Amino acid sequence: MSTRIPLPYSPKVLELFRNPKNAGPMEEATVKAIAGSPACGDMITLYLKIDEEKETIVRASFESYGCAANIAAASILTEKIKGKSLKEAWEITWQEISDELGGLPVIKYHCSILAVGALKRAIRKYYDDRGTRPEWLPEKPSREELQVLEEEKMIEYMYKKFGLQVQSGGKQSG
Ligand code: FES
Repeated sequence: MSTRIPLPYSPKVLELFRNPKNAGPMEEATVKAIAGSPACGDMITLYLKIDEEKETIVRASFESYGCAANIAAASILTEKIKGKSLKEAWEITWQEISDELGGLPVIKYHCSILAVGALKRAIRKYYDDRGTRPEWLPEKPSREELQVLEEEKMIEYMYKKFGLQVQSGGKQSG
């Protein structure tokens, strides 16, 4: 008999895990960003196709090597940001994503943080690549960006300590 207790996922998480929207890489992406978590070794890559004149997200897709909650969070996030300006997308919080999923178990909060962290990283990268920064984009990293960075540092440390090789998600983003 299994001793594992199933996590209390909402019906929405289960539905999007089984039928995720916008899953898969995007060759014509304007920008992509990767975020990873040492809590579980999971990674997410987010792709954005941006209308550069309007600074609007035309399309978004993702690849997730994470759990059901991460897949569901990325699915709902990519739907939510479609058609939004980069400024509007920047303001989305991981709590909003969690709420729209019908709530996540506490130990799965980071799955939503990862998805939103990848979004913030992609938006910042978009402007960094162009050598500009709109006034609404904070000069210093946001809370979600810092959380993702901290998690990545921790996984690098753990992998180094145990003699394994790992590439940080932040460094891979192209
Ligand atoms: Fe790590 Fe969900 S448990 S992304």
